[in-house]
This record gives sequence, structure tokens and C-alpha cells, in this order.
Amino acid sequence: MTAALPLALDCDPGVDDALALLLACAAPSLALRLVTTVSGNAPASVCAANARRLLDLAGRAEVPVIAGEDRAVPDAVVHGADGLRGLDLPPPSRPPDGTEAAAALAGFDGILVALGPLTNLARALAPGARWRRLVVMGGAIGPGNTPSGAEYNFAADPAAAAAVLAAGLRPTLVPLDLAREALATPERIEALARACPIGRRIAPMLAGYAEQDRFHHGLAGAMVADLHAVAILDRPDLYATRPARIAVDEAGRCREDTAAPMLDLVVAVKADALFAHLAERLARLSQA
Ligand code: RIB
Ligand code: CA
Repeated sequence: MTAALPLALDCDPGVDDALALLLACAAPSLALRLVTTVSGNAPASVCAANARRLLDLAGRAEVPVIAGEDRAVPDAVVHGADGLRGLDLPPPSRPPDGTEAAAALAGFDGILVALGPLTNLARALAPGARWRRLVVMGGAIGPGNTPSGAEYNFAADPAAAAAVLAAGLRPTLVPLDLAREALATPERIEALARACPIGRRIAPMLAGYAEQDRFHHGLAGAMVADLHAVAILDRPDLYATRPARIAVDEAGRCREDTAAPMLDLVVAVKADALFAHLAERLARLSQA
């Protein structure tokens, strides 16, 4: 078996960030070495506390969590006031590990997965960070999830999104469109709850998130977009990508643009197999 890949997550937990973080802890193919947080679903400092609580749940309290700047961003009420829709977890077992998220990312040598606004990544680019692979959850080719039509992460910091996509890093881009193809429906949430103690613990959080996506977008389940940005590393066989050149406008909206650098756009997922795999991975984590 090849050595596990060193992984950093830049995130704003966040309900779907929580799923991605738990999967990153559970996948033997991934070696989570760093978590940084960015203001998005909640202020970066609150996201850092949420990340520490989730790492405690996963038995990974050794993973450093470094907060980014608390900055004003569009409301993300769908995640609830605490960012995790009231997920029943104890307070963090340890204090924060610092607040220089961009510097930590700039010095990271491994795979970077971005699950929130790209503020930290754009700042990390300045010293010339070159990660071995970059996976970004953001953007939408079809309908977004904000009033402007943009997807939330790109709408929250359009300039940062434009800078990261223009940097020529050939990222793998997980757009919101993909999340619409693999909704966390009540049936899939129930299956996770039946699978293991961690599944049971997070099911109410997911159900509340699904209700929000039903109410706001008329969907049959929750768009757990961030999950795919980690799952594609763990199970690339469940996904399909195509080369694309995508530019970001001043509101964070995406368009295909022949002048933009190439990236790999994730366009399909085997949804049933993905949720079965997630249940298996969370069951593994529950036994750890
Ligand atoms: O648009 C989906 C993205 O916005 C995800 O990262 C989710 O966590 C929300 O913040
Ligand atoms: Ca997120």
C-alpha cells in the first residue's frame, strides 16, 4: 500500500465541512496533518472551535487547528448560529493553535483541500506556495446558492476565488452542481445513523441541513458539497472529471473562458456508492 498522502483542510465548519473532516480522519489513504479555518459559515474563530470539537470526536486531537481572520462574510444561516446546526458535542479539549492560517498554508507541503471561501489560500499564494495537489469546493456552472446566482464560497470572497483559479495550479474543482447529483436525502441520512455511533451523532445535524436545502432550494436532500472534495481523494473511482477553463467574475459567478488556466472540473459522482462508502468509513472511525 502506498504511503498515506499528507493532507491539509482549509474549512469553515459548517455541516458539510464536518462530513469532509470526519472522512479525512477516517480514510487510511489520507494523513490529515493540518486544519486551517476561514470565515464563512461562521467566523473563523468559531469554525476553529468547531474543527477542534470534531477532531476530538474523531479521536484526532493531535491535528493542529489554526484559525484565519474573523471577517465579515455573507450570512450562512443554513448552518445554524453555531455553524453545526446544534451538533451535540462537548467543548474543545484544547486551546486554539494560533491564528496565522495563511502562513501555515504557505508552508504546507502536501495536498490542500479548500472547503470555504478562498481568503486564506489567496494570501498564502503571495509567498509562492505550491501544494502538491489542490482540490477546491466552490463555484457553480449552473445555479448557485446566493442571491447573485454565485456559489457561496466564491461569493464570500470573489477576488480570492479569481486569484486562486488564475494562479495556474491546475486545481480539481468541485462545483455546487455536483452536490446536486448526490443529495443527503432522509433515506441516506437514516442509513448513516444505522451504520455507527458517529452516524447516529451527526444525523440530526444533517437532517436540519437537509430541511434548509428543501426550504430554500426545493431539494429532496442536503447539498453536502464539501464531502466530495475529500471523497474524490479517498475514492477517485466514484468520480468523473473533465478539463475546463473557468474564470470568476466580481460577484463570484463562474464562466467557461478559453483565456483562463486549465483545471479539472468534477462532473459526475456515483452517489449511492459514495454514501455507502461514507457509512463504512464512519463506522471505522467509530471503532477507533
Ligand atoms: O456552497 C457550498 C459551500 O458553502 C460549502 O463549502 C458549504 O460549507 C457552504 O459554506
Ligand atoms: Ca464549507
